[in-house]
Amino acid sequence: MKIENTFGIEAKARVLFTYSSEDELRNAIAIIRQQYSHLPILHVGCGSNLLFLGDYDGVVLKSNIRGVRLLKEDSDEVTVEVGAGEVCDEFIGHAISRGWYGMENLSLIPGQVGAAAVQNIGAYGVEVQDVTDHVKGISLTDGTERIWRRDECRYGYRRSIFKEELWGKYAITRVAFRLSKHFEPKLQYGGLVRATEEAGFTKDTLTAEALRQIIIGIRQAKLPDPKLLGNAGSFFKNPIVPAEKADLLLRQFPDMPHYPAEGGTKLAAGWLIEQTGWKGRSLGPAAVHDRQALVIVNKGGATGQDILKLCQAIQHDVDKRFGIKLETEVNLIS
Ligand code: EPU
Repeated sequence: MKIENTFGIEAKARVLFTYSSEDELRNAIAIIRQQYSHLPILHVGCGSNLLFLGDYDGVVLKSNIRGVRLLKEDSDEVTVEVGAGEVCDEFIGHAISRGWYGMENLSLIPGQVGAAAVQNIGAYGVEVQDVTDHVKGISLTDGTERIWRRDECRYGYRRSIFKEELWGKYAITRVAFRLSKHFEPKLQYGGLVRATEEAGFTKDTLTAEALRQIIIGIRQAKLPDPKLLGNAGSFFKNPIVPAEKADLLLRQFPDMPHYPAEGGTKLAAGWLIEQTGWKGRSLGPAAVHDRQALVIVNKGGATGQDILKLCQAIQHDVDKRFGIKLETEVNLIS
């Protein structure tokens, strides 16, 4: 069975289960335990952050749990629980239309709500952890439900407990967000103030929907639409290096973008890659996007191995030039 993925890579799973409720998921887990206990399990969303290096000789689970349920409301905020199979961007649009704010900057990030919680997706100065109240999941071993409060999710930059020690052990079923009823635009990320001014807004006239449209415009200008050109967004994480290492590099490259981060200084992987000359260049059917060097695209017919070859060539050249080992942001699946 073919596995959906935004890279547009042909990859098949041995078995695929799609479920629309917790009960259906538990039934699938029971079948897996009876018939496929020898196979590994992979949980996928829309496949917007996965690179299949070949066919997947295992069981693939896919959530179609939908629904938005208001859990709590007062005059300042709401807590809403969202099915993990909802498309994250559609929920953001819905939230804004209901007057629930906080996720505008995450507009147009591909993927489902469950994957957003696993990956701690982020853009333009906001991460999903900033608005997460709790995450619900079901054990793939025994079907029991567990709830993690935000502080138990071990969130960090594109990291979570679900991506690390619990990887492959739970399916996320629902994510609860705490959203504000008062729109407070977060414009601290480089370029957003200018972009809102250029669109004719002041701090007082900017609405959440307008900010959403501005963010969508910025993303569309830089990032290829996976429907037209296969890709999985940023392929690498922005590296966090010790401050001393960043200082040394800054002496040599004074224009290098850098930001303070937990545990050191965050550098822009896109900039590092551009310096190595890879931006816009191809290796076989894989290429580095010409408007954002952090994105690898499938020009057509690429296999996971083709993409991996380009990934390794970039990692090699960035390491040689800057002494930095780029880590993939995309999950490599073999
Ligand atoms: N840059 C270059 N050349 C490039 C790309 C970037 O010099 O080809 C420089 C830019 O000029 C800028 C800096 O690098 O000074 C940062 O670039 P940008 O604002 O485009 O963001 P990014 O760090 O490359 C991150 C996220 C994106 C997110 C944007 C906006 C990661 C791995 N990526 O990219 O997330 O949309 O910030 O917040 O953290 C994703 O995760 O899939 C994703 C697209």
